[in-house]
Amino acid sequence: MNNVEQTLSIIKPDAVERNLDNEIKQMFISKGFKIVQEKKIQIEKSEAEKFYKVHETKPFYNDLCSYLSSGPIVAMILEKENAVLANRDLMGATNPKDAAEGTIRKKYGISIDKNSVHGSDSLENARIEIEFFFKD
Ligand code: CDP
Ligand code: MG
Repeated sequence: MNNVEQTLSIIKPDAVERNLDNEIKQMFISKGFKIVQEKKIQIEKSEAEKFYKVHETKPFYNDLCSYLSSGPIVAMILEKENAVLANRDLMGATNPKDAAEGTIRKKYGISIDKNSVHGSDSLENARIEIEFFFKD
């Protein structure tokens, strides 16, 4: 009952471009997440490469980093009990085709690469990713 966590969420360029940021934020709020901090920014490709370094050996790495840096994004610190897992649940599967009803990716995702949101996958990565965007 008392395991409040923070996690990092990013509304990706495909969703910001379609002006879905407010609707997506409302989905988080209606599920009980508090948006502790947020900023709308565009990052350099070199920063995207650092952010997604865990994927550097994957065939999709270059396209992924080009994509994340291709337009404005909204980075948010979300807070809730068990926020890391709760956010992964609300996001849905990586491929919107496989995402469950009621998830953000089911509702808004276009394709596996344009899947509208990022969310930290562990508490440790949440700390690292929050630091990445909100260290100042
Ligand atoms: O974002 P998530 O944690 O669900 O997936 P991931 O496996 O950590 O992959 C990071 C991102 O890479 C995904 O959200 C996709 O946008 C992209 N990706 C891709 O373009 N093609 C794949 N086959 C797998 C992932
Ligand atoms: Mg991931």
